[in-house]
Amino acid sequence: MSNHNNITGNQKPELDNYIEAYSTPEDNLLLELRRQTHLKILRPRMISGPVQGQLLTMLCRMIRPKTVLEIGTFTGYSAICIARGIEKDAVLHTIERDDELESFIRHYIRKAALENKIVLHIGDALDKINNLNVTFDLVFIDGDKREYPAYYQAVMKKMNPGSYILADNILWNGKVVDADLKNDDYTRGIIDFNEMVKNDPRTEQVIIPIRDGLMLIRMKD
Ligand SMILES: C[S@@+](CC[C@H](N)C(=O)[O-])C[C@H]1O[C@@H](n2cnc3c(N)ncnc32)[C@H](O)[C@@H]1O
Repeated sequence: MSNHNNITGNQKPELDNYIEAYSTPEDNLLLELRRQTHLKILRPRMISGPVQGQLLTMLCRMIRPKTVLEIGTFTGYSAICIARGIEKDAVLHTIERDDELESFIRHYIRKAALENKIVLHIGDALDKINNLNVTFDLVFIDGDKREYPAYYQAVMKKMNPGSYILADNILWNGKVVDADLKNDDYTRGIIDFNEMVKNDPRTEQVIIPIRDGLMLIRMKD
């Protein structure tokens, strides 16, 4: 989910341990998935940690979405957290571009006994979204930061009234407010996305400053 494992941004590092200690911990399956990601997969720091994972589960319990979309499965940590938070008859469609991750992801979906709730799509999110004949109650955007504006435009055509989008990394390690660092494609993608949401009269939104920043966006009815 994030390239940055720090939960509280600039606050004291001990607070991260405190937050983790007082949040419901991950179970053995997620712990194993996280360890195996660190042992076997490149760029393991992209994985969601226990606190953000628990937040995703909780938000799903609160929103009670029937159809969910995730852009950027990586090794499946956030997908499992989302699937555990949704109801029995609800479905998560999760899209991952890197086909080398497929067997790892499927192994853990099976191990978590979530095959009935998670539909894994291997391929490019922008193609897959356009071809999916589904509308969404919740979308979790966590793919390529340069593509955030394109993801937003693609999913906005498929959001149900009163539905939500959660977008990760929208503070991009603080670069969104650092004039000297604004010009790389990744930062530009995030900044353009944030502006697009801010100026969209169809939505209301709030930034949750957990880890690298989560934007919670709601479609007005
Ligand atoms: C930050 S990681 C996702 C982390 C995961 N959601 C989690 O919380 O554990 C981003 C993932 O998005 C994938 N990705 C990037 N661009 C994509 C695209 N256009 N379509 C599908 N997946 C994409 C990358 O291959 C990578 O695995």
